[in-house]
Amino acid sequence: VIAESVRPTVIIGNWKMHKTIAESAAFVTSLAFVVRHSSTQVGLAVPYTMITAAADAARGALIAIGAQNVFDAEEGPYTGEISCRMLKDAGASFVIIGHSERRHLFHEDNAWINRKVKRALNDGLRVVLCIGETLEQHQTGKTHAVLHEQLTECLKDVGERQIESLIIAYEPVWAIGTNQTATPEIAQASHHFIRNEIAKKWGKPASERLIIQYGGSVKPENAAALLNEPDIDGLLVGGASLVLDAFVKIIQCHKIKTQSAT
Ligand code: 13P
Repeated sequence: VIAESVRPTVIIGNWKMHKTIAESAAFVTSLAFVVRHSSTQVGLAVPYTMITAAADAARGALIAIGAQNVFDAEEGPYTGEISCRMLKDAGASFVIIGHSERRHLFHEDNAWINRKVKRALNDGLRVVLCIGETLEQHQTGKTHAVLHEQLTECLKDVGERQIESLIIAYEPVWAIGTNQTATPEIAQASHHFIRNEIAKKWGKPASERLIIQYGGSVKPENAAALLNEPDIDGLLVGGASLVLDAFVKIIQCHKIKTQSAT
């Protein structure tokens, strides 16, 4: 049986440390025109300096603007950090938390990520929580154990209602920026595992509504095959989201699929 998923498709671009204010506004203006009739939900996680310009350009369009990180305190003496209130004030509606580059380059651990997740959800930001195993963990068969640990620790004390504002992005570290995209089968297996873990803790209805994105070398050429998997509800796109034409092609991948039988 082929049926449209009950979950919307959610495609988010993660610009990382790229572009200028003027470039972001021009990009969003062009993108807004292209996605005006799209049923796919589209978001861009931009550098802090571009949030306001991008949000202004996205006003009235179906594009959510978000940030790539946030600090876990409400406010205070934290030189160089940024709060949820500041992000919302600037025009952000969501934030990426726990990206592998934050974990590995800036030493964010699961406990800290958990504090950030709780703060952002409490303060009314939608959260895209990134999890995923390293190449070594992948090759030694530890993927499920790693995902279990990351989910348990990063989502500790998160309530059932708050799960509604959460997106999980499965980003295998070995696939990020490497052109080594996970095969649809490998990604689907991890997504299925993640959904079952969420079902065990927050119940099946919550798990069936949860958006789980895949990230790691997503390109126009591989996006459709990934989205066709039953538990892949969206994509978190790095490099290809910097190029308007490539990002638009990814957004336009049509998805018809059955719900996973959990
Ligand atoms: P790439 O798409 O460039 O591999 O990056 C993926 C990513 O890290 C998105 O958050």
